[in-house]
Formats: sequence, structure tokens, C-alpha cells
Amino acid sequence: MRQDVGVTDRDAAPFDLASMRKHYRAEGLSETELAATPVEQFARWFKQAAVEGGMFEPNAMVVSTADERGRPSSRTVLLKHFDEQGFVFYTNYDSRKARELSADPYVSLLFPWHPMARQVIVSGVARPTGRDETAAYFRTRPHGSQLGAWASAQSSVVASRAELDAAYAELAARYPEGEQVPVPPHWGGFRVAPESVEFWQGRENRLHDRLRYVAEADGGWRVERLAP
Ligand SMILES: Cc1cc2nc3c(=O)[nH]c(=O)nc-3n(C[C@H](O)[C@H](O)[C@H](O)COP(=O)(O)O)c2cc1C
Repeated sequence: MRQDVGVTDRDAAPFDLASMRKHYRAEGLSETELAATPVEQFARWFKQAAVEGGMFEPNAMVVSTADERGRPSSRTVLLKHFDEQGFVFYTNYDSRKARELSADPYVSLLFPWHPMARQVIVSGVARPTGRDETAAYFRTRPHGSQLGAWASAQSSVVASRAELDAAYAELAARYPEGEQVPVPPHWGGFRVAPESVEFWQGRENRLHDRLRYVAEADGGWRVERLAP
């Protein structure tokens, strides 16, 4: 069934995708200027992305997981915290991503910082955050987002928008603004402990810099350069 989503003929005009390309800046990333750990290097780049990157949500990242047959799926989530222990995001524990992570915790996080001709790719292992950490973050969310976490059985099929709105309205009546919303048991964080982190900087003539930190058995990091 065709749904009218307000697309006009002008919106549908084809782009010449094959000829769409940008010249990336010449300033590179060298081994000598890298921080001692990937998290420190990430902190530097994140600050630049947030302050001068001109991005709407520099903490938006693409999280990729795999199902039991190894079939990948990706979606955007917001990074809410990072430190030497890892990268933290929050979600519904019954969602597709969370179910996949509980069976296979290997995950990829990708930060698409296109306006800076940069990307960061984290490969690592995801573990649920503790309940105290989850509760502390949940308390910082706006009231409406707290209700939303209860109202939506994320990733399941819903009959209609009306069903979703009715579930929200019922919760809003039960927990009016100002009343504490309990932390949903099916909601919480994942902390991704990095095993490798690649920093990609676009350079001229497609000769980009790719520097990858790889975790060593002794807790240190090896840095290797990858061909672009
Ligand atoms: C910019 C942006 C930020 C998002 N942030 C989150 C988030 O922090 N947590 C979350 O569960 N979903 C977030 N979503 C929604 C997810 O992309 C996704 O639709 C949802 O988590 C269900 O994914 P799944 O069915 O693959 O598990 C965000 C979407 C966008 C576009």
C-alpha cells in the first residue's frame, strides 16, 4: 500500500550521486600526536566535534549488532557517557539491539563526523550498566522521556500510532509532571569496553589517515596505520 508521506515531484528529482564528492582538508593525523589511550584521543576529537564541528548531535553514533545467524543490523543511539571503562548508551533491554547484545556482546560503534571529514569506529564488548548507574541517568531525563521509556515496547510491532499515544496518555495521568517516575526494569544502559578504536581523518586525493588502537593483553594499546 502506498502511503502519502508528502513527497512532491521536486523532492523526488534524482541526484547524480556518482559525482557528489568533497575535497577533504589536508591537515592529517599522525602517530606522534596521538594520545596515550583511545579514550583520551576520543575526548580530544569529541571536544572538537562538539565545539567547532557544526554538528547537530555529535554524540549520535551508529550501533551495529548481529543476530544469532550473524546478520548485522544498525541504528543510531546517543552516547551518554565515556571514560576509560568504555562508551555508554541507554536503551530498552527488550529491544532488538539489546536482545542481540545479550546473546552476542560484540558490537561496533561508529561516529559519522562528516562535516569534519572524520569518523571514529569502536569495536568492543557491551555489558549492561549497573542498576544504580542506570537509575542515576534515568533521573536526569526529562519527565516526558521517562514516561516514553515506559510507554514503548521498543522494537515490537504496534497496531497504530493511536495505541502508542494512548499508552503515553495513561502513564501521564498516573505520573503527572513533578511526580517521580520509577525506573523501568526493562530499560538501562550498555557500556562498550573498546577492543579497538580507529580514528579516520579525510585527506587530499583519498589518501586518508587511519590510525587504529588495538588492545594488548597487558592492558596497553598498540597503534597501527591502515591503508585508506
Ligand atoms: C539521533 C537519534 C538518536 C537516538 N538515540 C537513541 C538512544 O539513545 N537510545 C535508543 O534506544 N534509541 C535511540 N534512537 C532510536 C534508535 O535508532 C532505534 O530506532 C531504536 O533504539 C530501536 O532500535 P532496535 O529496534 O534496532 O533495537 C535514536 C535515533 C536517532 C535518529
